[in-house]
Amino acid sequence: MLEDSSFAIRPDSTKNLTKIKYFDIGSLLTLQQNESIFTFHCQHGFVSLLFYSDDIVRIIMDPSSEPSLKSSVALVKQPDPVKVQLEELDEKIIIASPKLTVELQKSPLRVCVKDKNENILVTESNLGMGYTSTNAVFCFKDMDADDHFYGFGEKTGFLDKRGEKMTMWNSDVYAPHNPETDALYQSIPYFMTIRDGKAHGIFFDNTFKTTFDFKSNNGAYSFLAEDGQLDYYILAGPSPKDVIEQYTDLTGRMPLPPKWALGYHQSKYSYKSEQEVRELASKFAEKQIPIDAIYLDIHYMHGYRVFTFDRAAFPDPKQLIHDLKQEGIHVVPIVDPGVKQEPNYHIYKEGVLENHFCKYLEGDLYLDEVWPGISAFPDFTNTETQKWWGEKHSFYTDLGIEGIWNDMNEPAVFNKTKTMDLDVIHNNDGDLKTHHELHNVYGLLMGKATYEGLEQQLNGKRPFLLTRAGFAGIQRYAAVWTGDNRSFWEHLEMSLPMLMNLGVSGIPFCGPDVGGFAHDSNGQLLTRWMQVGTFTPFFRNHNALDTVRQEPWSFGEKYEKIIKKYIHLRYQWLPHLYTLFMEASQSGIPVMRPLFLEYPNDSKTTNLSDQFLIGENALIAPIMKPDTYHRVVYLPEGDWVNYWTDKVIQGGTYILVEADLEILPIFIKKGSMIAHGAIKYSTMAPETNMEIHLYPNENEDITYTLYDDDGETFANEKGEYFLKKITCQQTGSDIQLSIKNEHSSYKPNWNEWTLVIHLLKEPPKVFVNNEEITNDRLAFNKEKHTFSIKFYE
Ligand code: GLC
Repeated sequence: MLEDSSFAIRPDSTKNLTKIKYFDIGSLLTLQQNESIFTFHCQHGFVSLLFYSDDIVRIIMDPSSEPSLKSSVALVKQPDPVKVQLEELDEKIIIASPKLTVELQKSPLRVCVKDKNENILVTESNLGMGYTSTNAVFCFKDMDADDHFYGFGEKTGFLDKRGEKMTMWNSDVYAPHNPETDALYQSIPYFMTIRDGKAHGIFFDNTFKTTFDFKSNNGAYSFLAEDGQLDYYILAGPSPKDVIEQYTDLTGRMPLPPKWALGYHQSKYSYKSEQEVRELASKFAEKQIPIDAIYLDIHYMHGYRVFTFDRAAFPDPKQLIHDLKQEGIHVVPIVDPGVKQEPNYHIYKEGVLENHFCKYLEGDLYLDEVWPGISAFPDFTNTETQKWWGEKHSFYTDLGIEGIWNDMNEPAVFNKTKTMDLDVIHNNDGDLKTHHELHNVYGLLMGKATYEGLEQQLNGKRPFLLTRAGFAGIQRYAAVWTGDNRSFWEHLEMSLPMLMNLGVSGIPFCGPDVGGFAHDSNGQLLTRWMQVGTFTPFFRNHNALDTVRQEPWSFGEKYEKIIKKYIHLRYQWLPHLYTLFMEASQSGIPVMRPLFLEYPNDSKTTNLSDQFLIGENALIAPIMKPDTYHRVVYLPEGDWVNYWTDKVIQGGTYILVEADLEILPIFIKKGSMIAHGAIKYSTMAPETNMEIHLYPNENEDITYTLYDDDGETFANEKGEYFLKKITCQQTGSDIQLSIKNEHSSYKPNWNEWTLVIHLLKEPPKVFVNNEEITNDRLAFNKEKHTFSIKFYE
């Protein structure tokens, strides 16, 4: 208690830190090569090196024995065969792939990695690499004056993490998240450096608590783990997008979510009864506000026991889920890992009898308190336990549920340390490890168990999983929401760089609690937040027990009208968003992007934290302050079109934009196309009004590819999808289009579509696949000043 007052800074408060001793790895003694693995035996430890591809090299230091090549569960990639050349000189050894050169200075051993043009990417500073008397492993790398750092998963603060020190330790933080809040729910020990417009990355594959320090040393940064090996990968870039592709090549990519997961989701802690849920759904229908999912928080359960329903409050969940699905609404229940200790409760009984719970080495169950009271925790590090937990989800899938929400999976525990005892032993399929070592992957493994269980049970349908905790690779199983934020304007602002850095960290499907979880929201804040939510990859409004309600209509008609307009807009943008999601599932490149991803050479984008791009060419610059109706927007080079007025503005500069409460400033880059669908009340309604909006740019070749599929099964992975490719060249009043269905083994449910051409003063002469379109096919919209042409599939 006292630590929260000025007592914490009393004059005699400086803690007496035990003296930690540091050991350098020392000089190289011998080098061994075993196929593609090079191992350096040094005075005070061992280092191994191997290439995973031409542009990825792995370096491992172990203080006491030859490094183990066993990776954490984050890794999905096996090393590719790489042509490597070795050269030994007096003072150094050079090992090179076609794209990366590693130079190892012999005395003391230091690692320097260069690109194929001899530019240094990563080089050890004179502080070197080594370990401590407490078993920590570390290395220090040179930091250039112009280095900027991104990624690190879910962190508070601005986009660029230069000058920050960050810890990776999955933590349940209910206290308000602020710039000095460090570890949150996710641990993604990975970052990207941008130097002079070029990027490279580092993934530190160590599941212990890790620290990344860009603050404490002049001219050097460091990363450190409390134990284990110093096991890291250097990713060559050279573009920021290349780094994301390389990182997600190592740790995997998001599977394409079902379309319904991209719609608007409504949540509350908690909708407490079947009647309340039905009334909520009716209200959305009555008000014609689209919705795709309603969440059931912990009150749906019988005394917070997972895999149960409170039958008094929810007498017939199957009927409820069925009826809501008829209206296009999916029900997503919360599932926490804690299983109530109660001999008669079937999950607890089975878990104990079949040995699925975490234990101490001596054999006692680890028991501690969460929502249901004293609980046991599944040991997800065992494959059998993953299967068991996955199979238990047939309880939900049999009721028609297709999406699950995992919470408290850091794991959060109601005790002083907020988590499981670090001495608990995870069985880990027989390779016993402490919770200290595997804490950070608990949420990821719960996600794996859940996703794989759902996948088995959904008869070919794509599961949706939402998670709070995770580790590198979580994108393979779940979307991430950023936990317990508050209804503060500052939290709306903070969510942008947090989500952009999650995207850079291989997690494209993410979003905050829109409107804010704790504290009371208000009409203006909710409206501005909903405007942003329209464009964040995951769009869910969620708020806490005993706070002011924040459904779209909660603050009166004035706000409801605007909020409704933006939820409608989300549904109109869905065909474009879905295409971007498909691209993210293939390359890892996020849907929501920081500007530096597209403009790495533009120094004005370096720490631009209050605006973002959707795909390459839609710039969103929200208002995130109360009673504010204008803002400065940075438009990078090129011409930009105000989405609402079609006014063209030259970029490469800052502009002042007016934005009444109903306006979210959006700019489309001239030379782009964007697909829009109809306003629908759920993604489950068929598409009726497909439009592709063209913003031509004289003498620029524009290409757009629209993707579609059934939106719910894995048939797309067997080739059942649709790809329409449009290219456009404008010269004077001539518009040359090539329109081709490049892949059509899935037939979209729209059989006509409209090309809407913006920005032209005079009617154009349009040629489609070299044939001129007759004038009668060109419709002019006087109000919007656009020309449209209808096409039939
Ligand atoms: C945690 C979650 C929150 C949820 C609550 C009750 O605080 O972060 O989203 O509503 O638990 O389950």
